Amino acid sequence: MRKSISITISVLLVGFRFAFGQISVSNLRCELLVNPIGVDKEYPNLSWEIKSSYRNTQQTTYRILVSESKNNLMADKGEIWDSGKIASDSTVFVSYKGNKLKKDTRYYWKVKIWTNKGESSWSETAYWHQGLMNYKDWAATQVGEMPFKDWGGRWIGFDRMFPWDGNQSENRLSARYFRKEFKPSGKIKSATAYIIGLGLYELYINGEKIGNHVLAPIPTDYTKNVKYNAFDVKDKLKEGANAIGVVLGNGRYYTMRQLHQEYKIKTFGFPKLLFNLILKYEDGTEAVVFSDDSWKGTADGPIRSNNEYDGEIYDATKEMPGWNKTGFDDSKWLKAEFVQEPGGNYEAQLSENMKVMDSIAPVSISKISGDRYIIDFGQNLTGWVKFSVQGKKGEQIKLRYAESLESNGELSVANLRDAKAQALYILKGSGKESWKPSFTYYGFRYVEVSGYPGKVAKENFVAKMVYDDIRTVGSFESSNALLNQIYKNVWWGTAGNYKGMPVDCPQRNERQPWLGDRGIGTIGENFMFDNARIYKKLLNDIKLAQKTDGSLPDVAPDFWRYYSDNMTWPGVMLLITDMLYQQTGDFSAVEETYPVMHKWLRYMKDRFMTADHILNKDSYGDWCAPPVTIEAGRGISANQKFPSPLISTAYYYHFTNMMANYASLQGKGEDVLYYKDLGEKIKEAFNKAYYKEEGFYGNGELTDNLLPLYFEMVSEKNSNQVFNCVINTIEVKNKGHLSTGVIGTQWLMRTLTKYGRADIALKIATQKTYPSWGYMLENGATTIWELWNGNTAAPDMNSQNHVMMVGDLMVWYYECLAGIQSSATDPGFRKITMSPEFVTGLDFVKASHHAVTGLIKSEWKREKGKIHWMVSIPANSSAEIYIPTSSLKDVEESGKSISTIKEIEYLRNANGKLVFKVPSGDYVFKF
Ligand code: BGC
Repeated sequence: MRKSISITISVLLVGFRFAFGQISVSNLRCELLVNPIGVDKEYPNLSWEIKSSYRNTQQTTYRILVSESKNNLMADKGEIWDSGKIASDSTVFVSYKGNKLKKDTRYYWKVKIWTNKGESSWSETAYWHQGLMNYKDWAATQVGEMPFKDWGGRWIGFDRMFPWDGNQSENRLSARYFRKEFKPSGKIKSATAYIIGLGLYELYINGEKIGNHVLAPIPTDYTKNVKYNAFDVKDKLKEGANAIGVVLGNGRYYTMRQLHQEYKIKTFGFPKLLFNLILKYEDGTEAVVFSDDSWKGTADGPIRSNNEYDGEIYDATKEMPGWNKTGFDDSKWLKAEFVQEPGGNYEAQLSENMKVMDSIAPVSISKISGDRYIIDFGQNLTGWVKFSVQGKKGEQIKLRYAESLESNGELSVANLRDAKAQALYILKGSGKESWKPSFTYYGFRYVEVSGYPGKVAKENFVAKMVYDDIRTVGSFESSNALLNQIYKNVWWGTAGNYKGMPVDCPQRNERQPWLGDRGIGTIGENFMFDNARIYKKLLNDIKLAQKTDGSLPDVAPDFWRYYSDNMTWPGVMLLITDMLYQQTGDFSAVEETYPVMHKWLRYMKDRFMTADHILNKDSYGDWCAPPVTIEAGRGISANQKFPSPLISTAYYYHFTNMMANYASLQGKGEDVLYYKDLGEKIKEAFNKAYYKEEGFYGNGELTDNLLPLYFEMVSEKNSNQVFNCVINTIEVKNKGHLSTGVIGTQWLMRTLTKYGRADIALKIATQKTYPSWGYMLENGATTIWELWNGNTAAPDMNSQNHVMMVGDLMVWYYECLAGIQSSATDPGFRKITMSPEFVTGLDFVKASHHAVTGLIKSEWKREKGKIHWMVSIPANSSAEIYIPTSSLKDVEESGKSISTIKEIEYLRNANGKLVFKVPSGDYVFKF
């Protein structure tokens, strides 16, 4: 039987999309990297998506072909790998198992599947380009018969300051420019440029910028690993002479300092470059154009100074027209110098670079005094302003960035601390000029412009939103406008803080990958963004930052050396591992991090667990919990720590459960027993130490009770009472508000819902008075603040664009309000648990999430006393659907009684909800 089934395929880390067959394919998830070039895994993972117009489509078999030749593949030949028919229902993370892959080689592939509803045709052809696989590949490039074993790039740069680089303590440098001309010796078949430009680079060939990314590569601990980017540049080359140009900026390599705590900050050295352009000729020979001391360099170009915190100074009068093209007179340039290599492994960058993702026009422009104007972009965002201007040579335009204004209309810059967040542009005076910075970004809504010749008009300024080039894969809308606006604020904040790594904030002198900010919230983020790779990279960064004794940092990569040994910040490693496994089904996240987590947990136990099993070590407590009233927090710095062994012990317990589960999934029987036994002891100790006869834990704070409830540490007999205490705290003491900080907010909304009070969760989520997300919005927030009292607290630690206070709110939107949750037993949404809270107060919820398996939708509305619920389950997945009625007779699907629908199987009654097994397809339920 031949049916209309089509497939989207992709190599893990390699993006691709297409459509074929009788069904057109649209809105497909390109789950993998946008740039398919430069894969350095011996066994890359292949994935595809199935689209079927039939309900209940399950893959039973697949066959993959891989070839070096497109023609072979078209003739259905896979000389590199023909998997044969493999009986399997896997469509993601399918490991390549063919011939040994060669470096710098393009592989074409396609897949065909068989399902219970018939077979698909062959998919269209996708490709990935195997990159340089290891350190040796950079140096020992074979050139035909020639014995140039060491032919290949060497690190070049200038390991020193230039007179105009100013005071070293400011860590601002002029950009370094390098150039090289070369002539290909034959007809080019392929040309791939491999570049490691540290801290940041821009690559040009024949004057054209290569790639549409900005601020590349992603930051790493360069002593552990450095990431290369690779580009197919065949079309950029011409016969005869060609020119390569590279600009290097500081990035995190020549890092930004904080003068008051220099000793904590890791810096690596002066900017440097490693470059190989591999040319393959039609006649089968090869050549490499590589970085060495035949390149010329200068630091005397237009970027006079760059530093991520302070901004950029650009003197257009110093431009060097044609410097990155052939024929430029570089006789005054210096010879590039060989410099020491950074020390880390050379690895393909598998997560995305940043890109300009959006443009935002000014909302208003107002003059504040003299030649100073404030431009309001109406949205707190991250990136920069691009402007155009016409004026005289030497005229200077200054831009200062800020998130908010003082009451007198001036920029409010106190919360930037000593980050200058400025830009200075010196005009060359030759007609219309336009500029944006290269090696910095800002967190801002407002920009002050001064010195602008002519009228400061809206059409000459545009804000560019810059973040990692990842897709938005979720949508959410409800009948409540406030919930919707909070969702938008979270979107802006989350997107803007993806900076090759998840950072805490984009404006002040931090911008660090603080781990504690990214716990349970990352599940919510994953519903919204295709963020798996950025978090996979973060896990690796944490792993690389582990000390020999087992200690894990609070910031990873540990650009800031904080090893404060607490459970909640480093412990995020477990939460993120779990997020990746649950949301994408990527078990390698568990396998790779298990030994790290195991070692760390042993380390924490050996040093900080008392004989009676209390983990007596915490650093931050329920960080940034709201002051009781806005007045109590007015003008006060939030930088106060209240360490809580209750929190650290509860977290340790939770982690023992997670580890027991991971150990069991990996068949580590001894570890299962170890963690279960340890967990039991901790639970007992915890109850003994913190449970109070009055029916609460610790001091009765919300967080003190939420943790044991969510982690299931409370005995059955006490659990009602403890939950009542939670409700009482919210309803009576807090008058319907939360009182949680970074820790408690991660477990708040789902605990309330899990124990049956989604209505209270909704009340909290829709509050407009202090403390609440709505309060932030009422006070002008367009992202989420670091502090619940962000409008009145002291500015020293008061970012207006942090994501840590989102807690589990977005998880609750998706899992509880929309009812889209990956089942714990079949992760990656192979099995979906769909159990929305049809909570009073909401008339509709409409949400979607494009998971690794395909698009999931849940849309419900209340109409004439009935619920209409539309559900889409991707092919090859199934769902357990929960319907809150007592009788099968009450439920219709597409206008028919549910019991007559053959695909749907009634399973059980669970706490007053009827549970059905529903295979892939689109359904409309009414009850
Ligand atoms: C950062 C936080 C971080 C915290 C921990 C702050 O300054 O911005 O987000 O988690 O420090 O100390």
